[in-house]
Amino acid sequence: MGDRQVLLPADTPDLLCHNDLAPRNLIVDGHGARTRVRVAALGAQARRVRPPDGRQTVAMRRFEELAWSETPRGEISLRRRIEPTLKVDVYEVKLGDEFLMSSLFTVAEIELARLGLAQAKGESLDVVVGGLGLGCTARAALEDPRVSSLVVVDAMPEVIDWHERELLPDAAALVRDPRTRLLLANFFELAASDAGFDVEEPGRTFDAVLLDIDHTPHHLLHPDHAPFYTAEGLRRLKGHLRTDGVFALWSDDPPDAPFVQLLEEVFGRVDAHVVTFANFLTGGESSNTVYVAR
Ligand SMILES: C[S@@+](CC[C@H](N)C(=O)[O-])C[C@H]1O[C@@H](n2cnc3c(N)ncnc32)[C@H](O)[C@@H]1O
Repeated sequence: MGDRQVLLPADTPDLLCHNDLAPRNLIVDGHGARTRVRVAALGAQARRVRPPDGRQTVAMRRFEELAWSETPRGEISLRRRIEPTLKVDVYEVKLGDEFLMSSLFTVAEIELARLGLAQAKGESLDVVVGGLGLGCTARAALEDPRVSSLVVVDAMPEVIDWHERELLPDAAALVRDPRTRLLLANFFELAASDAGFDVEEPGRTFDAVLLDIDHTPHHLLHPDHAPFYTAEGLRRLKGHLRTDGVFALWSDDPPDAPFVQLLEEVFGRVDAHVVTFANFLTGGESSNTVYVAR
């Protein structure tokens, strides 16, 4: 993996747009109106200005590629840019032509940990986070003093590497915490296995599993994930939870009644929380769903 920096001169008034951030391109890539990827793209487009000569540019002053590498699925890169409206750093992950993650809106990722752990019982909690991403859910889990161990599963070595090299903001709070273990693995394979989420202690059970990998239970990153979102897949996950254990899931869609029913069949009690947050791009509110099943 190599580092590559694309630093623009500080006096560049208008940075030429990364055209690949254009929402239309993301739609072509399959990212619909409610995906966080599209929201991030709109963020980049929000400050489009038209100078007197008619050229269109986007007012972004600085763009930095923090890390990149080739993967079987294309080039993956971690980028940072200044969000022109809020004037804050935004971190984004791009794989091939797709934008996978953005730090623009993270309220619901944090709420995934808070709402899930609020239902967990006991003073010493063993927790699994599925999907490291930018680390918001994992860090929020560590803020709960009852959490005594945290296994964070991610399938992309690059994502884990960025955290270990502390390229991401607050990465140190996660990777230097003695409770944290970052595990390079396919979450769905572990969930379906008998051994579960701890290779060193096969069959170990947990107090909570907090999952944020797919866009929704129906809009999946990969078709191989589909068996997880069935009664059988969820039962296998439940087998890795202790009595009173909690399964929480982030979704980009509003609560989905058939999926709630499926969770109820498997777990019993289910709450579908709609998490709203201010969207400075629209001037209104956006929302995600956090399912909490136990
Ligand atoms: C949307 S991000 C998670 C965001 C995270 N909640 C946060 O707070 O930043 C999804 C993550 O899942 C990982 N991922 C994708 N497929 C996976 C799989 N099958 N098993 C484990 N991780 C996977 C991606 O590499 C990515 O880091």
